[in-house]
Amino acid sequence: MKTVLSGIRPTGNLHLGNYYGAMVNFLKMQEECNSFFFIADLHSLTTHPDPGMLHENVRNILSAYIACGLDPEKATIYVQSDIPEIVQLYLLLNMLAPVGELRKTVSFKDKVRQNPDNVNAGLFTYPVLMAADILAFNADYVPVGKDQEQHLEITRNYAKRFNHRYHVEYFKQPTAYVFGQELVKIPGLDGSGKMGKSEGNAIYLTDDPKTVEKKVKGALTDNGPEGQDTPKPDYIENLFTILKVVSTAEVVAHYENLWNTGETKWYGNLKKQLAEDIIKVTAPIRDRINDIKNNDAYLRKVTKEGAEKARERASKTLREVREIMGFKSF
Ligand code: TYM
Repeated sequence: MKTVLSGIRPTGNLHLGNYYGAMVNFLKMQEECNSFFFIADLHSLTTHPDPGMLHENVRNILSAYIACGLDPEKATIYVQSDIPEIVQLYLLLNMLAPVGELRKTVSFKDKVRQNPDNVNAGLFTYPVLMAADILAFNADYVPVGKDQEQHLEITRNYAKRFNHRYHVEYFKQPTAYVFGQELVKIPGLDGSGKMGKSEGNAIYLTDDPKTVEKKVKGALTDNGPEGQDTPKPDYIENLFTILKVVSTAEVVAHYENLWNTGETKWYGNLKKQLAEDIIKVTAPIRDRINDIKNNDAYLRKVTKEGAEKARERASKTLREVREIMGFKSF
């Protein structure tokens, strides 16, 4: 059976990008694979979250995982910082991480540009910790959105480098994987390429219907198509991209047709429909999140059992890696 693993940083709640880029795949994979899904709280430290908020955010994502349908009986669900073996592997992998490669990482360059005053070593070695997350479980598949593709490539480099250096075939080459389709990128409604927490343009699963309506209403549009069969500008294409994941094929075809015939004055209807269909997806999840969030005993049980299962697997890897590298006890 294939091993699948993936994680999400707890920096707020899950948004539509996380949901369609990652969550929907987690749900399919827990049925067919040996699955590990975790909350990457150590990764979130790069932006110095308020200590009071860190735990709340972990609680939010954990509740959202379960509310979306992740089942602790089927998948191992855990919090990254509960697994010290990951941190130890991270240190060992750092020795296989040339700084030139890390310096070229797109996510690192983006973050340096966005926050030039907070370029810490944790941010620099972010991909090494991510590789440790994945290789600690020797995962075959990593369901992620398109934005994480490069991190996966780096993980494969470390796996190859380790095998080569120590003349073993120990680590597998994990691949970014999405069932039967290309990797997804959910755009922002502000015309930007990606919906994201840091981008401040996200629609969260926990947003109430009024908030969703307001956010969708505020999406960037213009006066309409400038003729028949003209190409869509990016910000309009973005609306269609989201429509395609939340609405039916008929709805999408209807608005594609309006675009292609060059009619104007239908963006208002499109936004109304889009908000309605987003709410259809998010409202039931939102209700479940609110129920689960306050159930401390249940959340304690899930994370305790998840950590036990995850540590059992990760400590096996660490033991074997140490042996391969030449660590021996007296
Ligand atoms: P994070 O927390 O930014 O996002 C979590 C997941 O959601 C996907 N995603 C998107 N997919 C499509 N469109 C979007 N607009 C969008 N925004 C986010 C991401 O691709 C991701 O799958 N570094 C990771 C967390 C992580 C991890 C790992 C993932 C740490 N260790 C090991 C997999 C394996 C991150 O910051 O994801």
